[in-house]
Amino acid sequence: MYGERICGELILQQNLILDPSAIHVWHVNLKLTDSDYQQLKTYLNPEEQQRLQRYTHQPAQQQFLAARGRLKQLLAGYLGTTPSSIQFELGQYSKPRIAGTTIDSGLVFNLSHSGTVALIAISKNRALGVDVERIDSKHNLQGMAQRCFSDQELSSWNQFAEPHKTTKFYDYWCAKEAFLKATGRGLALGMQHCVINLNQSCYLSLPNSYQASDWQLHRIDVGNDYRAFVAGNGDSVTIISRHYY
Ligand SMILES: CC(C)(COP(=O)(O)OP(=O)(O)OC[C@H]1O[C@@H](n2cnc3c(N)ncnc32)[C@H](O)[C@@H]1OP(=O)(O)O)[C@@H](O)C(=O)NCCC(=O)NCCS
Repeated sequence: MYGERICGELILQQNLILDPSAIHVWHVNLKLTDSDYQQLKTYLNPEEQQRLQRYTHQPAQQQFLAARGRLKQLLAGYLGTTPSSIQFELGQYSKPRIAGTTIDSGLVFNLSHSGTVALIAISKNRALGVDVERIDSKHNLQGMAQRCFSDQELSSWNQFAEPHKTTKFYDYWCAKEAFLKATGRGLALGMQHCVINLNQSCYLSLPNSYQASDWQLHRIDVGNDYRAFVAGNGDSVTIISRHYY
């Protein structure tokens, strides 16, 4: 696994700098100690506290709190403010954003969680989406591939033998979902119309009026048990992976 490791305490003490040509991808461990749990809870507003209480499944509750709390800590580090002052609102297609900002003004972020990992991608003035998935061969991958892959992708994928077939499924899935999340429109936009060249990590064609050449696709290394991609709009971009601990 590559990327700089940065201590959470430091994030709260100093401003993080983000170059407009970069996307920072933060790797966050969703397992919390009791004291982390108590600290992150203090960052939540009343609506977020209510959402936290609604999770009856303890791991899901912890996943939400860890991801939301760390997101607030990180954004506060970039903005030079306190985590509890970071508030969110729903933008176009209900994609969460920092309250009062648009893509052209301020920080843009997207978050994904799976298993015990969250990825938080942050950029300036650039639409972006991130997706991480824990590999699980128990799902009906063949059925999902038939629904979500283009004909070309399905025939390439069917030529892989196990265990590559399973990991390649997640490559396609995450690369597609990263773009769909960047637009905010999510799965409703149609996964099969978002066609990937995995060897070159790029989009071959995209649904509606989206142009494949306007989008960058980058694989993120999260270790052997996960697959992850980030999609960013615009010209060449440098991906900087960092580990929050
Ligand atoms: C967004 C979506 C792709 C999430 O997929 P997922 O694999 O279940 O979950 P992930 O862990 O990758 O992402 C979840 C995070 O994405 C973010 N998110 C939520 N809605 C989003 C959207 N519309 N676009 C991009 N990101 C979104 C949130 O930060 C969320 O984290 P939270 O639940 O802790 O707040 C899926 O829920 C979807 O397709 N939603 C539909 C969006 C839609 O139809 N909007 C139109 C409404 S008018």
